Amino acid sequence: MNTEIIKINPEKIDQKKIKKAGQAIQDGKIVAFPTETVYGLGANALNEKAIEKIFLAKNRPFYDPLIVHISCLEEIIDLVSELPAIARKLAEKFWPGPLTMVMKKSTKVSDIVTSGLDTVAIRVPVHPVAQALIREAKRPIVAPSANLFTHVSPTNAKHVIDDLQGKVNIIIDSGKTSVGLESTVVDVTELPIQILRLGGVTVEQIMKVTTEVSIANEDNKTKKSPGMLKKHYSPKAKLILVEGKNDKMISNILSIASKYKKNGNKVGIIASSENSDKYIGYLVRVLGNANDLDTCARNLYKQLRLLDEMKCDIIISENYENKGIGRAIMDRLRRASS
Ligand code: TXA
Ligand code: MG
Repeated sequence: MNTEIIKINPEKIDQKKIKKAGQAIQDGKIVAFPTETVYGLGANALNEKAIEKIFLAKNRPFYDPLIVHISCLEEIIDLVSELPAIARKLAEKFWPGPLTMVMKKSTKVSDIVTSGLDTVAIRVPVHPVAQALIREAKRPIVAPSANLFTHVSPTNAKHVIDDLQGKVNIIIDSGKTSVGLESTVVDVTELPIQILRLGGVTVEQIMKVTTEVSIANEDNKTKKSPGMLKKHYSPKAKLILVEGKNDKMISNILSIASKYKKNGNKVGIIASSENSDKYIGYLVRVLGNANDLDTCARNLYKQLRLLDEMKCDIIISENYENKGIGRAIMDRLRRASS
């Protein structure tokens, strides 16, 4: 398949280009596009044949349900059978933005979207190109992250091209994404609401809206959200996450790294800027200042992909503080290392 790459400046959207991409969605084609979290691979949410193409392009198993993207809360009407009061409250606060809500689906939503579940996941992205694309397509758009299944999610167009060129019709290139990790997925069908995936909207932010929140453990996560596999979001290299207090962590990383290096492995290290000069002799990729968790989140996937490109056999990562978006960073690192 010939993949067309269309550059769109998010600050000055070229309507002609968006029209072309919107038309492609209407025509049943698949289009990779930027959101504020990661790039998505989009198709008309009401066209089963088009949706099937997404699974095939990504090599994604059909048991992993998709998120439906709409441009505003009003468009939810056709998709859900009920809109819980808490969903309305969360939407007011976090939409458009990196929050996905799981609700009881309407009969209009196909089983291929939900993998046969009676719920559907819905999100309103804030990225101007995503917004414009949904409006131009005049249809809700299903979009998983635009990477090969289980690979690291794409945070710029090059990542999408590396994984999907030749397998999709269009890739929109609007530069890098701002959040850098996927949306938070929360089941709002019952109270307490349950966070199924940590992401762009933090637990602390949700707690300000309601204290009736639980975070799903691995067991009920996979039951409720079949795509939430423990091993996920992983680079090709083996990843080792070293937890612990700073000095101890650094010395542990150095001793693990030297062991692997002695055995002939190429070792990469994911570090904060404060510690980056501690790992002499290794390939060090910096996420940002350890206190600036937003920046660290934004850079994580890019640096994991870079270390893969550099053909590292082993990636050793520092740990990050378990608060704010740091929880989502740690969640992804734990998964990648499992
Ligand atoms: O930030 C994001 O959410 C990105 C951008 C493109 O919007 N999308 C994304 O999609 O990360 P994907 O397919 O990679 O992850 C969707 C997650 C999966 O873990 C899936 O299991 C869960 O959402 N999910 C989808 N529908 C669900 C449902 N009805 N119930 C529970 N979990 C669901
Ligand atoms: Mg994904």
